Amino acid sequence: MIRVGILGFGFMGKVHFKNWNQLEDASVVSICDLSPIKDLNVSGNIDVGGDPIDLDAVQIYNDLDSMLANEKLDVLSVTLPSHLHCEASIKALEAGIHVVCEKPMALDLNDCDKMIEAAQETGKHLFVAHCIRYWPAYRWLKRNHTSGSFGNLLSARFERLSVMPQWGAGSWMTDTSKSGGIALDLHIHDLDFILHLLGKTDTVESYGLAQGAVNPAHIMTQLYYPGKIVTATSSWMMPESFGFEMRYEVIFEDATVIYRSKQDAPLVVYPNNSEAFSPEGLAGDGYVAEIRAFADIIKGESTELLITPQEAKASVELAWKSIH
Ligand SMILES: NC(=O)c1ccc[n+]([C@@H]2O[C@H](COP(=O)([O-])OP(=O)(O)OC[C@H]3O[C@@H](n4cnc5c(N)ncnc54)[C@H](O)[C@@H]3O)[C@@H](O)[C@H]2O)c1
Repeated sequence: MIRVGILGFGFMGKVHFKNWNQLEDASVVSICDLSPIKDLNVSGNIDVGGDPIDLDAVQIYNDLDSMLANEKLDVLSVTLPSHLHCEASIKALEAGIHVVCEKPMALDLNDCDKMIEAAQETGKHLFVAHCIRYWPAYRWLKRNHTSGSFGNLLSARFERLSVMPQWGAGSWMTDTSKSGGIALDLHIHDLDFILHLLGKTDTVESYGLAQGAVNPAHIMTQLYYPGKIVTATSSWMMPESFGFEMRYEVIFEDATVIYRSKQDAPLVVYPNNSEAFSPEGLAGDGYVAEIRAFADIIKGESTELLITPQEAKASVELAWKSIH
């Protein structure tokens, strides 16, 4: 049985809790959060469904050192505000515990390097949870691009549209010193996926809009890949009535594919020479899939994750580049 600790029990801490506990061979045994745990509902930008969480069998701590001293953990989910990822991840790795750390890996590139070094020195796995690499419709796109099913990719447009985040404890998400702002918090999802899909690019150009003190609150980035038009747009300027949606529109030589996460049939393929269709087998979300993949690594049943720590660092670097 994989014994799991969760550090930071806000939106993503609860998502990790549910997903670890869904696995037959893993169990969350302890949770650490600075604040008393009151709300057991899971609410963030994406509805992950399910019942409120039951903490009867879980030890609760309010500081990481006590949790590490008292619990025998195999893995720690680091679901703290982003500026706190580095120190906690290194502490856990040095205590001999595997780490799954939420994205972004860290806000500072030197911190990313320190995390990579700590994983190398301790021989423990460090997995930065870039859930979009595991999200079914995005995995489908990566698979079909790699196999060349629809010919060359000509144009790709990614969008991630949200209301201004209200769920971060103490509004830390709109504080750039804690979240890195929209570029490191939201935009990084698509920038990371584009790196996964198309490989490295250093040439990016962005346009942004401010909303009040949040600048940018809306950002569009063009990424240079020879012979292609590739853009990513992220927004915190959606009205409450909109909520959240992620989308992509990719034009290949032989088909156009359109994904809209809020639609009943979210992914539609429009081939150039035949009828449109919706691919099957894309149910579920990347949150469940990424945790399952990491459990398999820990058990030695798989050897490869869809992202290395070095790739997670490259995404942080690109996200900073997108606003500088
Ligand atoms: N993968 C995704 O789709 C996704 C979505 C949302 C957030 N995130 C990432 O997850 C991380 C957490 O975001 P969130 O939305 O869960 O934030 P949140 O504010 O809902 O939760 C953070 C929790 O950490 C606790 N905390 C703060 N400092 C602490 C400390 N020193 N020790 C212990 N607990 C502490 C807070 O009390 C809070 O409960 C961020 O890095 C964010 O970027 C990822």
